Amino acid sequence: MYRIGEEEINAVANVIRNGRMFRVMDPNAPVHEVLDFERDMKAYLNAEHYFLLTSGKGALISALVALGIGPGDEVLVPAYTYIATALSVLAAGAIPVIVDVDDSCTMSPTAVEAAITPNTKAIIPVHMQGMPADMAALCAIAEKHGIYVLEDACQAVGGSFQGKKLGTWGDAGAYSYNYFKNISAGEGGGLACKRKDIYERAYIYHDSSGCPYFGKELDDLDEHLHAGSEFRANEITAAIMRVQLSRLDGIINDLRRNRNYIYEQVKDFGLIRGRSNDFDGECGNILRFAFENEATAEKFSVLKRPYVRGEQPIHTGKHVCWAWEILFRHKGAFHPKMNPFLMEANQGLRMEYSRDMCPASKLEMSRQAYIYIRPEWTEKDMDAIIAGLRDVAKQL
Ligand SMILES: Cc1ncc(COP(=O)(O)O)c(C=O)c1O
Repeated sequence: MYRIGEEEINAVANVIRNGRMFRVMDPNAPVHEVLDFERDMKAYLNAEHYFLLTSGKGALISALVALGIGPGDEVLVPAYTYIATALSVLAAGAIPVIVDVDDSCTMSPTAVEAAITPNTKAIIPVHMQGMPADMAALCAIAEKHGIYVLEDACQAVGGSFQGKKLGTWGDAGAYSYNYFKNISAGEGGGLACKRKDIYERAYIYHDSSGCPYFGKELDDLDEHLHAGSEFRANEITAAIMRVQLSRLDGIINDLRRNRNYIYEQVKDFGLIRGRSNDFDGECGNILRFAFENEATAEKFSVLKRPYVRGEQPIHTGKHVCWAWEILFRHKGAFHPKMNPFLMEANQGLRMEYSRDMCPASKLEMSRQAYIYIRPEWTEKDMDAIIAGLRDVAKQL
């Protein structure tokens, strides 16, 4: 969480005074924060359709269900992402197939092309730490093979690739507003959809009572009618998110400015930044460096320096596939008959996972390291960090 203050407090107070905290569907009601946020975020993203949910994972699952993905299907996910991306595929009854990331730390188009089989129904590129995957290449491959693209933009709210907002390149794009994200209400998620039918099915799925509540609003309901889950957002989350959205561009601009300020100075110390698919479009959460080998990256990330700490992507716990014990053990659900790994329709699909998989990603992510950027840093703060980085660079 980067910024929160009095405006959010007042927005929440307004909802409580109004007394209606359940999602208000009536645009004529005095307060309808969810509707307002959805309108504002849709415009910000320039998305065809958009709605608010309780979590990013709820958005991913709702999208997969809406795309018709289920038992018998494989979905490609990158080796570097939070475990929720892979688990959302299991929640839909399908099997996640892990593919390599390249030197941009995002899904490798070459690896995707090589991994597609007739069982592949979708790919989930992930914009980790606000870093854009190569959406032009990935969308072209998906189109060629007739498969869906679901973007996981949970860590990249406000970022863009070639000037187009992350999360709006694919058939659908999921966002997270949990505490660790660019804008936050503590928890929360969003889903952008290109096609109306996909949006409607996802929208129905996100609310188990989708028919009675949204029946009046959706066309063609009979066609899409199905049992849903419960990822419905409330008015308090939306009230906070509306204020957060008004802060988003300021946060992203400050992150990028600070990242660039530091990079402009430290590049002369021999610190080389990791290749990016779109450096200007990144959210600026991190400044990432590529080193010759793992030992140097490790040295960089453990050295102490003022104000700032280094980290190798490889050491980010559940954000790398080598830590996904649930997959290694094929624990796809508690009930065996609901476990996609045991479902008859999934037998014959690729489901071998191990600590040794994706060696190319392991190598790439071991030789990279980054520092986190804060939007509130002053030039004085950053000059101290730069001095620290100069010392670090000398010791590498
Ligand atoms: C890449 C990625 N995907 C999905 C999620 C799930 O988001 P949420 O925690 O809102 O369910 C996260 C959350 O950390 C994430 O980082």
